[in-house]
Amino acid sequence: KTMADPRKERTFIAVKPDGVQRGLIGEIIKRFEARGYKLVAGKLLWASKDHLRNHYKDLADKPFFNGLVDYMSSGPLFAMVWEGKEVVKMGRQMLGATNPLASMPGTIRGDYGIDVGRNICHGSDAVETANREIALWFKPEELSDYEYANKPWIYE
Ligand code: TYD
Repeated sequence: KTMADPRKERTFIAVKPDGVQRGLIGEIIKRFEARGYKLVAGKLLWASKDHLRNHYKDLADKPFFNGLVDYMSSGPLFAMVWEGKEVVKMGRQMLGATNPLASMPGTIRGDYGIDVGRNICHGSDAVETANREIALWFKPEELSDYEYANKPWIYE
């Protein structure tokens, strides 16, 4: 049995409704694309509260849970799957901290956000979470497996 190719790691990234309304879809795609990650899936959709309660089920007992579900269902969001080496961890670094005011300039939240309840972008926090979230948001046939930026241009 061979080890999984580390370049095939995938993460779930979503431009939240505030990011969509503020015209930041392209900016966020641009950052992942420019870094060298591969876009495997993407779609604009208006998620239901039930779907979002499921997505955030680990936070169900938090005081901000209902407000979070209301915010995330307040308009369409842009859901994506990105692929590449350590993309889960790097995606989190590119997003910044959960609270935009704690995020360094240069990160997505640190460049565009102020309040934690309007923090623009979601990114999976671990590989297992990413796999669960990708399966929750996308059908297998929505994920495109294709040759991209053939190896030596991004990976040594
Ligand atoms: P969490 O999973 O802790 O953070 P992250 O999105 O960085 O993985 O929380 C999910 C979302 O819940 C977070 O992006 C914004 C919202 N949230 C609040 O509204 N208030 C809070 O105090 C926290 C911790 C999160």
